[in-house]
Amino acid sequence: MKLSVSVRTAAAGAVATATLLAGGTASAGAAPAPAQRAAAAPDIPVANVKAHLSRLQSIATANGGNRAHGRPGYQASLTYLKDQLDAAGFTTRVQQFTASGRTGYNLVADWPGGDSEHVLMVGAHLDGVTSGPAINDNGSGSAAVLETALAVARTGYQPSSHLRFAWWGAEELGLVGSRYYVAQLSSADRSRIDGYLNFDMIGSPNPGYFVYDDDPVIEKTFKDYFAGIGVPTEIETEGDGRSDHASFKNAGVPVGGLFTGASRTKTTAQARKWGGTAGRAFDRCYHSSCDTTANIDDTALNRNSDAIAHTVWELSQ
Ligand code: TRP
Ligand code: ZN
Repeated sequence: MKLSVSVRTAAAGAVATATLLAGGTASAGAAPAPAQRAAAAPDIPVANVKAHLSRLQSIATANGGNRAHGRPGYQASLTYLKDQLDAAGFTTRVQQFTASGRTGYNLVADWPGGDSEHVLMVGAHLDGVTSGPAINDNGSGSAAVLETALAVARTGYQPSSHLRFAWWGAEELGLVGSRYYVAQLSSADRSRIDGYLNFDMIGSPNPGYFVYDDDPVIEKTFKDYFAGIGVPTEIETEGDGRSDHASFKNAGVPVGGLFTGASRTKTTAQARKWGGTAGRAFDRCYHSSCDTTANIDDTALNRNSDAIAHTVWELSQ
């Protein structure tokens, strides 16, 4: 598996900094130079993430009950995100494609600065199924990625890598938007992407804490975050290749991500370690009309949002 230089460097840097702060390599009493100190990720306010979910719910309600590809609720969702990203100083681009005879859109937001030879991408699919408002699948990932991007702007973060955030269209039709994005990249631009982080369903109402078992550095960064807050994790096995990270993985880009479970049933052992209800699906409203703002576990949404920010900061400096 291809491992990115800057992801490796970032991880090594974080270890070196931790050692320095612990006094392992610094001379007694010497403060580390500011340039060597890793910037800590901010706490992502879950209230902000939930406010985005409320807006996405309202958008669905006002547009026939869904935010699906080729429907007005999708377009309104994209506009809601784009306006905030533009106001925060991102350089945004709307990429158009066609799927099932309707026009689809990806939203791509670049944070100005950073090394353009080392790009860290963070993404989520913004479209939903036609049967409901699609708040857990995937308002949750879309909102957490949006709030992470806005936190980058609020803190004036200057990463050494270039950060690019993306919201994909037509994932529910077979990863169409992300596949299109990857196919449109030149091979040089593709090789500049050190890693792609994917967030699809991160607030399931009966949650599990699943980490994608792909790039080892990305995986370890997520696992270390959860270990640090005392939350056990498991490897994601409900659907390898069932979300947009597959589009990047197929092109040789290192990938990772988080997931709280879809239609699979939580076991007794899982309920013991995570709470919730054994013998019930992680998300009983998966792809149905009840995937509303009531279909979200706030604790899972909060932990995963913070894990995203932690990983973005760790891997980009
Ligand atoms: N991508 C699927 C959807 O949107 C949901 C899903 C199922 C999933 N299994 C997964 C997402 C594993 C990420 C990882 O319908
Ligand atoms: Zn999804």
